[in-house]
Amino acid sequence: MKHFIIKGPTKGVKGNINISGAKNSCLPLMAASILFEKKVVFKNIPLVNDVYTMKNLLIALGSKVVINKSNKMMTIINTRPHKLVVPYELVSTMRAGVLTMGSLLGRYHKKNIYVAKGGGCSLGIRDINYHLSGFESLGASNSLQKGYVKISSKDKLKGSLFKFPKVTVTGSANLIMASVFIKGFHIIKNISIEPEVIDLINFLNNSGANIKFLGKRTIKITGVKELIKGNHNIIGDRIEAFSYLCVAAITGGRVTVKNINPKHLKTELSILKKIGYKIKTSDNSVYLKSIKKLNSVKIKTAPFPGLATDSMPMLLALLTKVPGKSEILENIFSNRFMAAPELSRMGAKIKVKRNKAVILGTRNLFGADCISSDLRTTFSIILGALSATGTSKIQRIYHGLRGYSNLEKNLKKMGVKIKSVEK
Ligand code: EPZ
Repeated sequence: MKHFIIKGPTKGVKGNINISGAKNSCLPLMAASILFEKKVVFKNIPLVNDVYTMKNLLIALGSKVVINKSNKMMTIINTRPHKLVVPYELVSTMRAGVLTMGSLLGRYHKKNIYVAKGGGCSLGIRDINYHLSGFESLGASNSLQKGYVKISSKDKLKGSLFKFPKVTVTGSANLIMASVFIKGFHIIKNISIEPEVIDLINFLNNSGANIKFLGKRTIKITGVKELIKGNHNIIGDRIEAFSYLCVAAITGGRVTVKNINPKHLKTELSILKKIGYKIKTSDNSVYLKSIKKLNSVKIKTAPFPGLATDSMPMLLALLTKVPGKSEILENIFSNRFMAAPELSRMGAKIKVKRNKAVILGTRNLFGADCISSDLRTTFSIILGALSATGTSKIQRIYHGLRGYSNLEKNLKKMGVKIKSVEK
């Protein structure tokens, strides 16, 4: 199994990193291609494993999907009606497979659609009850049959009013996709306004859909007959950008991350400034420079524009080296501090109680053998290993390769002593 070997400490990394397209924008956009009879072209696609898994899922449903690695473009053509069963083996490895529910229902609502119910994951129970009640508000019924969610509606989907009980990113994307061709209009309240959901709304509107904001988290979707051919440039990945800013922060270096809209990580940047890092932004880049005096902070995760739960594991690692006592409240997932025990093996002083982590900054961490459990935990452990004295071995890095393209190459470019070993 491939693992990383990192020799630390790495001091004062320097570099410019070109950020990839956002994985969590590309995945719903690919699911939305099911709504199109005409060709769809995506630019600035991230070359990460999850995108290839979603490609295989779309091909299994009957789409023609071509990825051009050199210019990071993807073309999707639907020449025939899609199959309406989304198999478990494709959903079990990537939860985002649940996103095909909304677009299949939106296009084939009078048919029976079967989508495997995704398993749990290390972050905690990943329920889809809000997704299903959203579909019910359009007149679609659902039932669970042998691990598959069966969704269908006898008549054309009809608009009404729905309020999400809690902000859900893929739940919002799913209901938006299901509402594109409805009869009348649908008012949806308490939707996610994560940049990736806004990217999906922009893509659909530019392709002929009619989605308007009535308030901060309220939209009105008026059904249209069909969508014209789609063409979209995917936004930069804010979590990847933040991850590389933390590499410079934890090693006392400096970095410029490019092809990223700084407004998409506003809270993360204000936290880094509060800790004491020097930040400069342009309209599509962020520059971070470390300085000596660092301050502990108390932070909490929240739906956008709050601190992204996906950014939190990297901050957890960073705060192990900031003098004083810091606190993190995780308000999105029930089990998001998976990096804490691994960082503690390096000597980090972290106490986790339910959804709160208290971190006592320490001067020295020491290299250790670690095992990753999910995408963002992988990067958090890497940050710990960068600042630790000695060699660290990080196993199960396939989790990290799901969401970071050119991970090893980018880290080496910044001066990190890292190598991957197949065994
Ligand atoms: C999306 O997951 C992202 N995944 C996650 O990134 C991200 O961590 C998360 O949003 C939060 O920002 C993709 O976009 C593909 P939620 P999602 O529905 O949509 C509960 C990655 O690997 N909930 O916003 O699944 C849920 O359990 C991942 O990049 C219900 O209870 O997250 C969680 O506690 C990690 N019922 C909270 O809401 C539902 O029907 C927010 O989840 C839906 C959600």
